[in-house]
Amino acid sequence: MKRIYDFTVTSIEPFLFNDFELHVSLDRDLEPIYPGQFVNVLVPDTQKTFLRRPISIYDVDYRARKLRFYIRIVGNGTQILGKLQKGDKLNILYPLGNSFTIEHVQRPLLIGGGCGIAPLFYLAKTFARNHVRPTVLTGGQTAAALSWINDFETFADLHRITNDGSMGEQGLITDHSIMKKIKTFDRIYTCGPEAMMKAVAKMAVIADIPCEVSLENTMACGIGACLCCVTETVQGNQCVCTNGPIFDICKLKNFIKI
Ligand SMILES: Cc1cc2nc3c(=O)[nH]c(=O)nc-3n(C[C@H](O)[C@H](O)[C@H](O)COP(=O)(O)OP(=O)(O)OC[C@H]3O[C@@H](n4cnc5c(N)ncnc54)[C@H](O)[C@@H]3O)c2cc1C
Ligand code: FES
Repeated sequence: MKRIYDFTVTSIEPFLFNDFELHVSLDRDLEPIYPGQFVNVLVPDTQKTFLRRPISIYDVDYRARKLRFYIRIVGNGTQILGKLQKGDKLNILYPLGNSFTIEHVQRPLLIGGGCGIAPLFYLAKTFARNHVRPTVLTGGQTAAALSWINDFETFADLHRITNDGSMGEQGLITDHSIMKKIKTFDRIYTCGPEAMMKAVAKMAVIADIPCEVSLENTMACGIGACLCCVTETVQGNQCVCTNGPIFDICKLKNFIKI
């Protein structure tokens, strides 16, 4: 069930490269949240940012009634969110969108580029809770861009690649040696820059492995009312905010060219 509540900021942790982690809590039980879902946040300064901003749910702590987000500053909205202080209120519409497929998956490969790793953390954690240890591949420009990622290691096999080779292997995500073993996985999940997702999706199609992508189309309402987030699918135009953000790549039209 979708709800709108004022959450309270409990902490904010800045990282390198304009990224930060935001933790918020609620004074009542959280709604059930599935991996891949997102929130639509009302940025406190609505004069500069009238529309809500969609952000993936990075992690959920039902007992503490807390949500965690991983955010990259790209414009006014995310900049204002980055300046929030402990105790500030944040109006959040949640949980939104569909979720990743988990059932019957035994050997998942999760691939995240940059802050595209955000929706994959709760997915990895959910697999681990279901006694499935996922493999996670993440890439960035340099070691510094990946320094925060160690969180995954408690419940996933983590592989890294950097453009300059300063951490893990050297090259682009699709160059990583794990991609040569792509057929050992039974489902691939990816989120990040569009070019990366398309390259991963293409490899998945060639290897005949099901693949789900988390699309980050520009959004406004987040609930299927404004039609500003549509994407072309084999079933016609669909809203990314309600039919997605998770799509099986076979359903997306013109997403990859083989
Ligand atoms: C379902 C979903 C989940 C998302 N999850 C996260 C997340 O977990 N962490 C995170 O940091 N960001 C996430 N995003 C992207 C985030 O919503 C945008 O970066 C944010 O809305 C930008 O707002 P702004 O006011 O800072 O920038 P704006 O001033 O609105 O835009 C600044 C620049 O960013 C570009 N931009 C705006 N929106 C997007 C977008 N959706 N995708 C790519 N570029 C965009 C604009 O074209 C412009 O160049 C998600 C987006 C969607 C749709
Ligand atoms: S954001 Fe309004 S319909 Fe998707």
